[in-house]
Amino acid sequence: MTSPSATAPTPKGTGTLVDSGAARHSRILGVGAYRPARVVMNSEIVDKIDSSDEWIRERSGIISRHFAAPDESVIDMAEAASRQALEHAGIAPEQIGFVLVATVTHPYQTPAAAPELASRLGSTAPALDISAACAGYCYGVAMASDMVKGGSADYVLVVGVEKLSDFTDPYDRGSAFIFGDGAGACIVGPSDTPGIGPTVWGSDGTQRDAITQKQAWTDVRESWQTAQADKNVWPAIGMAGQTVFRWAVWGMAPVAQQAIDKAGIKADDLDAFIPHQANIRIIDAMVKQLKLPADIPVARDIVTTANTSAASIPIATTRMLAEGEIPSGGLALQIGFGAGLVYAAQVVVLP
Ligand code: UT7
Repeated sequence: MTSPSATAPTPKGTGTLVDSGAARHSRILGVGAYRPARVVMNSEIVDKIDSSDEWIRERSGIISRHFAAPDESVIDMAEAASRQALEHAGIAPEQIGFVLVATVTHPYQTPAAAPELASRLGSTAPALDISAACAGYCYGVAMASDMVKGGSADYVLVVGVEKLSDFTDPYDRGSAFIFGDGAGACIVGPSDTPGIGPTVWGSDGTQRDAITQKQAWTDVRESWQTAQADKNVWPAIGMAGQTVFRWAVWGMAPVAQQAIDKAGIKADDLDAFIPHQANIRIIDAMVKQLKLPADIPVARDIVTTANTSAASIPIATTRMLAEGEIPSGGLALQIGFGAGLVYAAQVVVLP
């Protein structure tokens, strides 16, 4: 950068702005979730991938998942979860100051899902989508927390929603059994005391191929132009399962530990561990590595919900709170990780 010239204009005033409000704390005020009605058992998946119910249960923990109806969109599911979160938080739609929707399965490059969701709820708040795959909800909570603390919004609606059934190749042995559909949401708002601990987050783009849409949209366009459109050019999501598995097991426990340390607590202080629901073996390995006390409730929602990417953590949180498994006001460690590769972890006070 060149230095300002001697003839550069000088500011008219002091260069200060009106203080938009003192820095404050943030917390999650309410959560909500939506699972589509249709339950899909492993038996419905296995024939196309030469697999078995037993193999899927043993390798992933999954017994069943929910698939959205053909005409049910991510916005439909997000709306249902958001309404529940608003009600739980006791917040009216007009009070929403920002809408963040974490998703990788909204089928429009543009416009984003968030503005339509906002207007369906009766809000004209600024709204955008986050593309951070399975870390999207924790990214959203971190961003919402900073917005509330910084004063740019009083209440932020954070949604994690996926209709992965639209982007899954039912003949792909490595992924057809793993994904499910659903939505989870929370409201982040101001608090007198810290309610969302420092987020530990990062990315490793060198591993972009580990989980990726198999074709770019431009490849699909090319296939139209050459009149070769068939199922092979549908940009379903593919995954190098073992690579991601190893990264998750060895790389994510230290991230979770850092989130505990930065929150100024010990593992013993936790009332819940709510990791992304990727594979029950990954969850069990993390519990072991973090040396969590045996009595800490751990989200194992994957068994009946499968991997719903950005939605998995808020869906699990909502269920655990509703079933009285975890205490309102308790401390939960949440960690999301996935395509990018990207990750984010934070300790939160449960609503
Ligand atoms: O949400 C984003 C983050 N995602 C994740 O964290 C997912 C991480 N990865 C995983 O969860 C696991 O890698 C999977 C569940 C996807 C796969 O489990 P795995 O234990 O890594 O299986 P594998 O790929 O190592 O395959 C083991 C064996 C192979 O047979 P051999 O070579 O041992 O004879 C595969 O051919 O299982 C076979 N196999 C299958 N068998 C039945 C692979 N896929 C299937 C299948 N059904 N669907």
